[in-house]
Amino acid sequence: MHNQLEKILNEANEQIQKAVTVLDAEEIRVRLLGKKGALTEILRSMGKLGPEERKELGLKANNVRNEIETMLEEKFAQVKNAAREAKFIMEKIDVTEPGVEMTLGVKHPITLTIDEISRVFMSMGFSISDGPEVETVFNNFDALNAGPNHPARDYSDTFYITENTLLRTQTSPVQVRTLMSTEPPIMVISPGRCFRCDTPDATHSPMFHQVEGLVVDEGITMADLKGTLDSFAKQLFGPQVKTKFRPHHFPFTEPSAEMDVSCFKCGGKGCRVCKGSGWIEILGCGMVHPNVLKVGEVDTERFTGFAFGMGVERIAMLKYGVDDIRLFYENDMRFINQFK
Ligand code: DAH
Repeated sequence: MHNQLEKILNEANEQIQKAVTVLDAEEIRVRLLGKKGALTEILRSMGKLGPEERKELGLKANNVRNEIETMLEEKFAQVKNAAREAKFIMEKIDVTEPGVEMTLGVKHPITLTIDEISRVFMSMGFSISDGPEVETVFNNFDALNAGPNHPARDYSDTFYITENTLLRTQTSPVQVRTLMSTEPPIMVISPGRCFRCDTPDATHSPMFHQVEGLVVDEGITMADLKGTLDSFAKQLFGPQVKTKFRPHHFPFTEPSAEMDVSCFKCGGKGCRVCKGSGWIEILGCGMVHPNVLKVGEVDTERFTGFAFGMGVERIAMLKYGVDDIRLFYENDMRFINQFK
């Protein structure tokens, strides 16, 4: 039995040295010192011995046990320490490492252009209102004096939803909504999406944006229209641009005009941007037709007004030198990021 104890101690020493993890050490502890362990086995069998022998062997067995326990204790401390060290290394943070830069989004060029247009009109005292993209046929056409035979009502130009509802083809129905809900004086712009059944090409998109404007008050004349829109053009394109108004026709204004600005690229000499003419058309406008005012029950003897509407894409293309409208809707970040 002495030999056996010797053997247990040697084996324990060998095994404990090899242990690498806490689990290894625990396994050894159970195997040697546990209830069914080798040492316990010996201690149990000592009952058969004489008192002298039992005392001697008991002493020795206890020493062996103590020695194994000490070795295990050291081992536990060592493997626990190693585990903690490994964790530290794995979780190490280099606080001097430069941070990862967050990429900030950019505003879409159409949004930028609407913001810019809105800023100019707000500085002149206009407020901004919103209208729905799904409109009634009445607001989009009838109330705007576009009678039942007006070509714009054609099924080929308009996305009809039902017989009486459609995707608005222009922001002008916001004029109707405003006139029906507000008393003059009115000074409002309304930017938003419009829709027409157009096949996409470099200058057409079935979805596009307009900014509508409406001013109604006592004594509003064509001079107010011209002064306001000339000031707008100068603030948007630069103080050097000139404006000119050409007679035109819209069902909801009388008289109607289109406003051109002198080419801000070549100053009017003629270039690729203005197609050699020196002028660029940027909006439609006119004095609000009495039939439109009447829809809003505005007293047409007392009040007059002017209205205007511009295509945002066209202005954005001119301002930023974009030559294809489809670029705005392809969601190519290489394009969008240029407008930082
Ligand atoms: N709604 C017109 C269009 O889509 C633009 C327009 C012209 C709006 C004259 C107006 C206006 O308010 O007075 O072509």
